[in-house]
Amino acid sequence: MKVLLATEKPFAAPAVNGIRKIVEDAGYELVLLEKYADPNDLLISVSDADAMIIRSDKATKAVIDAGKNLKIIVRAGAGYDNIDLAAATEKGIIAMNTPGQNSNAVAELAAGMMVFMARVQLKGGSGTELKGKKLGLHAYGNVPRMLANIAKGFGMEIYAYDPFIPAEAITKDGVKVVKDLDELYSTCQYVSLHIPANAETKKSINSILMSKMPKGGTIINTARKEVINEEDLKMIFEGRPDFKYISDIAPDCHNDLLKYEARYYSTPKKQGAETSEANINAGLAAANQIVNFLKNGDRTFQVNK
Ligand code: 3PG
Repeated sequence: MKVLLATEKPFAAPAVNGIRKIVEDAGYELVLLEKYADPNDLLISVSDADAMIIRSDKATKAVIDAGKNLKIIVRAGAGYDNIDLAAATEKGIIAMNTPGQNSNAVAELAAGMMVFMARVQLKGGSGTELKGKKLGLHAYGNVPRMLANIAKGFGMEIYAYDPFIPAEAITKDGVKVVKDLDELYSTCQYVSLHIPANAETKKSINSILMSKMPKGGTIINTARKEVINEEDLKMIFEGRPDFKYISDIAPDCHNDLLKYEARYYSTPKKQGAETSEANINAGLAAANQIVNFLKNGDRTFQVNK
């Protein structure tokens, strides 16, 4: 059996070594495809793979069709919007993610991004403090739960909106539940996004929500660029000299926003899960999930049920 580790953005060496050990101990072969520039390279490498581990690499219908022996794809990470789930399901291929494994790294980055924006991007000049400010968590999964814990240390007041999570599961963490998004955005100066990119959420962060934010309104996006309505974002930047946006995924309108200097920042390449610890946690979990599925039929964490 061949397990393909296809990572355009490679894992740290200890993670790759750990994945190799798990795969080889199970009696399988690990094939590496790292830092590939041409998506055709993935089509070629997947052609004889039985299983595939990816990060944000795109498992398109073409990739899935090219994987003639493919039985399972594991996205070593949380968001699986890069997998064509319908194409996988049609071919009877199991798709999984590794929820929670890289969450601490993303939560720490989101916290750091808040400090970075509050301190005028460390460019010099007087900033503001996070203590006493209100942080709104848009969704309450693994990352925002960890971010809430860090933000408590800053002395922030924390609010959350997540219609899929019972209120008690949020309030027990000392986080206040708001009734809707209008309340979240109109209450909180800082809003951190943690929603997946899907048909309902794409472009859902629009001018109606952004314009509701109090003075100094700052959105932190470590989720997906697609959830922001970029036309509205540009309009808000134009109309509100106090508004700020920091993203771990450069929006398509990145070049148009550069002129706003200390109010806008984006990492050049998604950095949220780029820690050795997160690479090891997510990579090893992915390898173990593949072995458990191939050997025992374990489908825990399947996302295309
Ligand atoms: C995730 O969904 O887990 C994060 O966005 C991390 O993505 P990455 O593996 O491409 O860094």
